[in-house]
Amino acid sequence: MTTVRFEAAHDAASPSAVVVFVGDGRQLSAGAQSVEAATGGQLGKAMKAAGFTGKKGKLLEILAPSGLAANRVLLAGIGDATKADARLFEDLGGDVAAKLQTLEPEVVADFSGIADLAVGTDVAAAHFAHGLELRNWRLDTYRTKLKEEQKPKLKSVLLIGAPSAAKALSDRLQKVAAGVAFAKELITEPGNVIYPESFVERCRKVVEPLGVTVTVLDEKDLARLGAGSMLGVGQGSAKPPRLLAMEWNGTGSPDTVPLALVGKGVTFDTGGISLKPGPGMEDMKWDMGGAGAVAGIMVALAGRKAKARVVGVCGLVENMPDGNAQRPGDIVTSMSGQTIEVLNTDAEGRLVLNDCMTWTQRTYKPKVMLDFATLTGAIIIALAHHHAGVFTNTDGLWGKLDAAGKAVNDLVWRQPLSEVGGHYDQLIDSTIADMKNLGPREGGSITAAQFLQRYVDEGVEWAHIDIAGAVWRPKGAPLHDKGATGFGVRLIDKFVADHFES
Ligand code: BES
Ligand code: MN
Ligand code: ZN
Repeated sequence: MTTVRFEAAHDAASPSAVVVFVGDGRQLSAGAQSVEAATGGQLGKAMKAAGFTGKKGKLLEILAPSGLAANRVLLAGIGDATKADARLFEDLGGDVAAKLQTLEPEVVADFSGIADLAVGTDVAAAHFAHGLELRNWRLDTYRTKLKEEQKPKLKSVLLIGAPSAAKALSDRLQKVAAGVAFAKELITEPGNVIYPESFVERCRKVVEPLGVTVTVLDEKDLARLGAGSMLGVGQGSAKPPRLLAMEWNGTGSPDTVPLALVGKGVTFDTGGISLKPGPGMEDMKWDMGGAGAVAGIMVALAGRKAKARVVGVCGLVENMPDGNAQRPGDIVTSMSGQTIEVLNTDAEGRLVLNDCMTWTQRTYKPKVMLDFATLTGAIIIALAHHHAGVFTNTDGLWGKLDAAGKAVNDLVWRQPLSEVGGHYDQLIDSTIADMKNLGPREGGSITAAQFLQRYVDEGVEWAHIDIAGAVWRPKGAPLHDKGATGFGVRLIDKFVADHFES
């Protein structure tokens, strides 16, 4: 967690990093002007020398400025101030954190007197701190030999000249950042540390103090309920499966119809008997990314006491090959009663999710259900790591997810879906059971979504979000380092704020 502090003016005696803002044409904010005066014109000189014009998203670092106690001044370009939005300030905060994480204990950012700003200074300041906090996350548990200069040092951000409204907004964004951090933590931990039971315990510890009700089904409960599809995936593993349900109700009424979230939590996916190739298999520790997103969303919503009722269900299993593992060709009966021919044990996500979806609909009777899953490699071929794929039976739901995604930069892109019985749906008909868990190679993400759609109850607005690419990225960006992105937490926090809170 990064501390966010507020003060009217900076204590010039403390050595630290000072961030000031510059618009197109080297337009200095009031804060930048006072640094310019204190340093006897160093900013102007440095900007000319570096060809820095204040272009949006650019940073210029001035080391050991004369006339200031600070170690460094960072000029942050905001471009055309009349177009500078919350996202720009988030990205700037993130880039500053990436630069200073191992260098400075505190960043001082001066928001006084930024002319013609499109958003309120409170919004700009709070989102700058938010971006900085999001980027300032890393998991160092297993690094025992970090050199002094590699150790993380950045602990706090001090906002100068931000109106008092920034505090409340920043507090709220910090709760959301805690959700993103929790998702990243679960996703980054390796498969020997996070498996179904330990996933449950780690969530319990974090969400119960926030007022979230936790329900856990073990393998016996699942067998009693007829979850043959999910159990089939887990039967080759020494780690027993779990279904974890987390409920947050901030509405004050037990009768509010909940929004339901379902997450794929394959804590490690070897492929099972349809074993994956060795190279890159370690990436399959991310295969609980859907469940990680759902857990992070619950932390965010409960943390900020959202006035909504939301239930998050995680289907937790490990997909391993052993003497008891399921075989290609096995036929399993899902909780819904529908039978499945398992043609490929590596297409296991849909086998886990369908039982969780059935249980969720029976237990909570939601009108809207979203599922998150690292479901197919094919979605990475289609969209790379830049967008998650959305498959939905409802145009309105698509519009809402698209808008929320654009607002917080968790981007989604709609993908095709046929009705049950339609073109893409027919591709998963089986000759021996109700359906098979494998379609043709082409359109692999679509047939996976069609499979899930067969488990959606009449009248339920449903979206499947394939996050196989979005859950981790091979390259860093302003708001995350390479690796886990925490995708989905901010998306659904925004979606809930816009549509499920009065
Ligand atoms: N977990 C994988 C999907 C995946 C692949 C996620 C790469 C992230 C990166 C999923 O369980 C899987 O193995 N899907 C198969 C489905 C195929 C057998 C129909 C795939 O995508 O190859
Ligand atoms: Mn698989
Ligand atoms: Zn998988």
